[in-house]
Order: sequence, then C-alpha cells, then structure tokens
Amino acid sequence: MIILGIETSCDDTCAAIIEVELSKKNGGGSPSFDFNEDGFKILSNIVSSQVKVHRKYGGVFPSLAKREHQKNLAPVIAKAIKAGKIKNEKGKERPEEIKQKEKELKDIFTKDDGFLKTVLSFLKKTKKPKIDALAVTIGPGLEPSLWQGINFSRALSLWWDLPIIPINHIEGHILANFIIDRKILPEKIDDLFPAICLIASGGHTQLVLMERIGSYRTLGESRDDAAGECLDKTARILGLSYPGGPIIYEIAKNFKPEKSKITVKLPRPMIFSKNYDFSFSGLKTAVLYEFKKREIKTQRSKEYIRAMAYEIQKSIIDTLTYKTLKAAKLFQARSIIMGGGVTANEDLKKRFLEETPKLYPQALFLSPAKNLSTDNAAMVCIAALFNLDKITSWKNLEADANLRIR
Ligand code: KG4
Ligand code: ZN
Repeated sequence: MIILGIETSCDDTCAAIIEVELSKKNGGGSPSFDFNEDGFKILSNIVSSQVKVHRKYGGVFPSLAKREHQKNLAPVIAKAIKAGKIKNEKGKERPEEIKQKEKELKDIFTKDDGFLKTVLSFLKKTKKPKIDALAVTIGPGLEPSLWQGINFSRALSLWWDLPIIPINHIEGHILANFIIDRKILPEKIDDLFPAICLIASGGHTQLVLMERIGSYRTLGESRDDAAGECLDKTARILGLSYPGGPIIYEIAKNFKPEKSKITVKLPRPMIFSKNYDFSFSGLKTAVLYEFKKREIKTQRSKEYIRAMAYEIQKSIIDTLTYKTLKAAKLFQARSIIMGGGVTANEDLKKRFLEETPKLYPQALFLSPAKNLSTDNAAMVCIAALFNLDKITSWKNLEADANLRIR
C-alpha cells in the first residue's frame, strides 16, 4: 500500500510518501502491518519551512502561513512524488469527466479563486501517481493553515479518485516513534503499553496516557503557553532569532555554570503541582523582568545571554522531565514516548536517557529522529496506517483547530 500524506497544521508545508506491505495475518486489526518485518519504507519526506517569513514577527503569523502554504503545497507535493520515484497510473480520463470534476473543484475553493487556479494547474500537469490513499492532518492547529492542506487533499482525492484518511496531528507526533529501527521495539508491540507520551511543540504541551495504539487519555496540558512557544518568546526577549528552541539550545551549550561568574535563577512554574498540567507564561514573564533589570547594555553581555539561555532551557527540561517521570511512576508505564519539535532537543533527550533507566529500568524510552520530531508528513502517513478504518470521502473532511486526542 502506498500513502501520500500532507501536513499543514502550523507553518511547515509537508508532504511524504510511504510504502507498506500490509500483513495478512493480522486480518485487518490494528496494527494492520507487521512491525518486525521490514515492510515499511519512507519513499520521500519533504518539508518546506516558513521560518524566514515568520522570523520578523518572532512567531507564526496565521494569514502569512496560509499564503505560504498556498504557494508551497504544489511544489512540495510534486517533489514528494518525484523523490519517491512513484510511477504513474495508466489510462486516460474522459473530457466530460474532467469537466464535471472542474465544476466540483469550484465548490471546494468557493472563496479562493487564486488557490483554485494554482491547484488546477498542478492537477492538469501532474499524471495520476500510483498511490492507494491520501492522508491529511485535520487538527489540532491553526485553522487557516489546516484548511490549505485539507482543501489541496480534497482536490487530489476528487481528481485522482482516491480515499482520504483524516489524521490527528498529536497522534501523528506519537506514532512517529514507530518509524524507527524495528530492533528497538519489543517483539510484541503491546509490551510498550501503558505508555506515557510527552508532546511538546510550539502549539502544545501535553502528557498523554496511551493504553494502546488508538486509545489515549490526556492527563494534563499547558494552561497557557506551550513549551516551544515559551522558547520562541523568550528567545525574542533576548534578541535571538526564530524559532527559539534550536538557537537557545546552541547558545546554552556554550555556558558552563561551574566556570561562570554569572548566575540567573528562573522559576519552574507548576513543577510540584499535584496535577499533570503545565504553565510556561510565568517563566516568560520572569525572563522579561530579569532582562529588564539589566537596563545597561554592558550588563547584557554575551555571557549573560548564554546564562539566560541555559537557565530557560533548564527550567523547561526540569519541568517536562519531572512531570513525565511522575506520570510514568503512577501509571507504571512500560515506555516513555516523545513527540513534537521541543523533543528534538538533545539535552532533553539526554536527561530522559539518564533518568529513565535509574527510576524505571523496565521502561523503554522512545524518541524519534530530529526530522521526525518536528512537523513532517511521514508521521501523518504512519498514523494513517493505524486509522485505516477512518477512510472517508473528500466530501466529509473538515478542519478542527481544537481537535482532541481525548
Ligand atoms: O512540532 P513543531 O515542529 O511544530 C508545532 O506543532 O508547533 O514544533 C515547533 C517548536 C518551536 O517552538 C521550536 O522552537 C521548537 O519546536 N524546537 C525546539 C528544537 N527544535 C524545534 N525546541 C528545543 N530544542 C530544539 N532543538
Ligand atoms: Zn507539531
């Protein structure tokens, strides 16, 4: 089975193609393919980042993100098909059929003539590739962004007569962990559960109890800013560029607290609260006050910025690790699973790799490769494999900015 996945929930325009040999012995149950066989391949995984466009705002600007997705989707999908070396389907469409489809396309893009033109031009010059299904993120995310990927997918589905699988972005981040070396996973996939999943990205910070694939319970989440949002906003306060996470990581790397004369102490909001919720806006405010105290430019030396970056990152890592491990203990987790851009952070991974075996030798720590932690469409494809029962027609797809994983 070949699946083309599309992801536009925030500011990255992503398309990927995977090929999987569906296992007959599972008889349609979930998982519907065999993990222990090498029957799963990422044929292409293309991401077009809008970082440069949003940099001057220090965060994602929704109307710009929409415009960029409209510009990028056609080339990104074309690149995914080319890089995946996907063959074309034989056979020609009849002119009257094309006319009818063009009419229906107008219903998809009622308020958007410009995008309709772009999509139609792509459809007319792209031969139908040999794929079996489409998958697209329907939420959660920024509504204007989500709709662009959804509408492009609806058009592809109509034009190429393909079914679509709607995907929850958060489940995609969790299931991206299954695109790893199969040898790391236990022989029986059920031996991973219950799992505690930490999703930390620019839009979300959530702790999720996963009883099995497809069964999730949100234990807690951020009441205000997400962890990534906090990194992006505090980086801006410090005069650093967007996105904040990777730059703060790079700068913090060069700070050695034992050798420095500068110490800054920032709070770890809600770290010891009884629930599993998070709060990062207090940390952002503390950074702002601390930075303002040093009005004189000389007090904001490079070493001071390094000390701040180090402490901001440490505050976030302390909080995420403490709460995740607390949940792992309570629910006797057999694995700890990461997802989302912030979990691409090497120091966060290092901390979990150090602490998990000390506290829970029986629990496996899973974290996807960097390009599968941040937004991508390969995760949408793999999530599709576990949601084959949700296959639907393009007519039934809608964006849901607040979609829950439950
Ligand atoms: O999952 P993602 O790509 O998009 C959303 O769904 O939001 O996450 C983006 C977030 C940004 O806030 C970015 O600053 C953060 O992930 N991020 C990182 C790193 N790479 C990206 N944070 C910490 N360390 C990193 N290496
Ligand atoms: Zn994400």
